[in-house]
Amino acid sequence: MFDALSGLPEQCIRAWELGMALTVSARAEIRQVMVTGLGGSAIGGDLLRIFAGKRLPVPVTVNRDYVLPKFVGPQTLLFATSYSGNTEETLSAYREAREKGAQIIALTTGGKLKAMAEKDGVPVITVPGGISPRAATGYLFLPTLAVLQKLGLLEPLDEQVAELSRHLQAMREQLKPETPLAENRAKQVAINFFQRIPVIWGASGTSEVVAQRWKGQVNENAKAPAYWNVFPELNHNELVGFQKPEELLRQLYIVILRDTQDHPRVQKRYAITREIMGGAVAGMDEIEATGNGDLARLYSLIYPGDYASVYLALLYGIDPGPVKVIDQLKARLA
Ligand code: PA5
Repeated sequence: MFDALSGLPEQCIRAWELGMALTVSARAEIRQVMVTGLGGSAIGGDLLRIFAGKRLPVPVTVNRDYVLPKFVGPQTLLFATSYSGNTEETLSAYREAREKGAQIIALTTGGKLKAMAEKDGVPVITVPGGISPRAATGYLFLPTLAVLQKLGLLEPLDEQVAELSRHLQAMREQLKPETPLAENRAKQVAINFFQRIPVIWGASGTSEVVAQRWKGQVNENAKAPAYWNVFPELNHNELVGFQKPEELLRQLYIVILRDTQDHPRVQKRYAITREIMGGAVAGMDEIEATGNGDLARLYSLIYPGDYASVYLALLYGIDPGPVKVIDQLKARLA
């Protein structure tokens, strides 16, 4: 898992090149963009929703289901994303998208999705296999940006992608196993999460996807529970729920993912929320976004969580790679 993590800066460049290499044109005006996928493959869609949502004149949505919303049709650009290419919900959504005449692009390492798409004459972006889907966010996200750029829907992002890769290279030096605890934020977070329940808070529309990602990484890598929520919504409900039962609350450790570019009122909420929370939980920490471009800033919040979840797995004596429970469930459904 550490190899896959440390390869992310190079993965992002390769992923971008793979997307840019695709020959693509729109059959009809694109009125909405959708990513259909599950788990590690859906997170790429969420990153697209957050990043491109601020830039595109059309909505970007993520579908995590067997079925598609009614509005999907010939004016929908639909990325069918499955790292394995064998996730049944994604295959079902792909078939429905074909019936509805959507403009589909398959993003996968192979499997049934690639076979079906090639047979149907649907463009396929084939990304390298051999790592966990959740370690492949570069492969499952950046090609979608490249396609949107090629279709003229996004401004040129080549510079942002280069900065992203450089920024991740610098970050991996701080996060890698050889970097001692005192300078390694991911190790510090893992120690604070150990034998506790991680709670991750992001900001709606920006780090919300990152909070969800951290939760999924703790679940799948460390095989432990975790929960996430977003500002400002959590100030209207979750915040009230930190009063009882006191013993249980002392098992929670909260990390806030923040960015100086978050809405000023949301930034004010972070500080007030921390004050209100007082000593109710085991502890609270904050991770601050770094970098210039939005891509680098987004990944600067993701990367520490990826590493922290693997360090947490090691603290629990667990192999972060296999997700036997998911495999068993898929086998029982077959
Ligand atoms: O990270 C994982 O292994 C899972 O979350 C998978 O991504 C999920 O089960 C879907 O599989 P795939 O990404 O192959 O479509």
